[in-house]
Amino acid sequence: MADGTLKCADDILCGINRPKDPANPSDLEKKHLPVIEAPAQAGKDQPFQVRVEVGKLLAHPNEPAHFIAWLELYSGETFLGRAEFTGGGSYPTAVFTVKLSHGHGALRARALCNLHGLWESERPIEIIS
Ligand SMILES: [Fe+2]
Repeated sequence: MADGTLKCADDILCGINRPKDPANPSDLEKKHLPVIEAPAQAGKDQPFQVRVEVGKLLAHPNEPAHFIAWLELYSGETFLGRAEFTGGGSYPTAVFTVKLSHGHGALRARALCNLHGLWESERPIEIIS
């Protein structure tokens, strides 16, 4: 920065990383952004499955020194669940069964890489009666 001010947006270890251009993610973004597979609509209070995977767009390392430590799923800002992983013997994919009584606009998944910080993706979903 010309004025010497340091910005959180310039540091991947600061805050939550989201794709800068979702239609054209960088290789770093492809390696870290969780991919959410879920129906576009779900019935009120009807269980449905949400699959979350890191590495689907571009493989992420999975070794003791560099791995995805956990995945979390949210409906809007409401926490729904978490899966934790170790480096080497696991693969960062989780299937959550959830039921929602109302929508928050989108499902959100967060993934933490032990070297590259916190990443978030979202997928719209509508809860219908
Ligand atoms: Fe990483």
